[in-house]
Amino acid sequence: MLTAGPTHEKIDPVRFIGNYSSGKMGYAIAEELASRGAEVTLISGPTQLTVSHPAIKKISVVSAKEMYQTSIDHFDHMDAAIMAAAVADYAPAECAPQKIKRNGEDMTIRLVPNPDIAASLGKKKQGQVLVGFALETNNAVENAHKKLEKKNLDFVVLNSLEHKGAGFQTDTNIISIIDRQGDKKDFPLKSKVEVAKDIVDHLETILL
Ligand code: C5P
Repeated sequence: MLTAGPTHEKIDPVRFIGNYSSGKMGYAIAEELASRGAEVTLISGPTQLTVSHPAIKKISVVSAKEMYQTSIDHFDHMDAAIMAAAVADYAPAECAPQKIKRNGEDMTIRLVPNPDIAASLGKKKQGQVLVGFALETNNAVENAHKKLEKKNLDFVVLNSLEHKGAGFQTDTNIISIIDRQGDKKDFPLKSKVEVAKDIVDHLETILL
């Protein structure tokens, strides 16, 4: 199972809070897994991307809450889950039923925390492999280690925003894989299709 893409958190019928995630990394992993014989459930936030392999079942969601519920509903019978989605940490406390009108005054939107999907699956997992992503602007390695522990992940794919050619929207990525033994493997700049192979190779060393 994979989560991919951004989430959109509705403010009113025509506006949302989102992020720049394209979904490219998650979709590339889904295609790589399927090409190696896996049956893949791809839980995707709003993206322009489509899937090509017939072994990928795509479920489209919009908000973090929908992604959370769909992930929880499907996780029990999965061998592994890769959490590649850029999930919004907060959502507006309420979605206005009508388009909010401007009135020249300051405006405040109260935000409430979204559920942490990866951490919830970490609590539920039974012999399942759980993989997270970390996109950090500072103290990348230290934060990735903390994430491993906090979310009970088997490994973290770290992509740093400090590197050109890595992260959101691009077709390339630079990753490090950090595992529970504390080992860190650094990979050079590659296309996201090639990076997907490295991630699935690592997953296979745990699963097979
Ligand atoms: O804590 P942080 O958001 O940096 O963690 C990133 C990892 O956790 C990613 O794998 C992301 O998909 C996952 N995550 C999640 N649910 C959230 C926030 C992050 O599954 N609400």
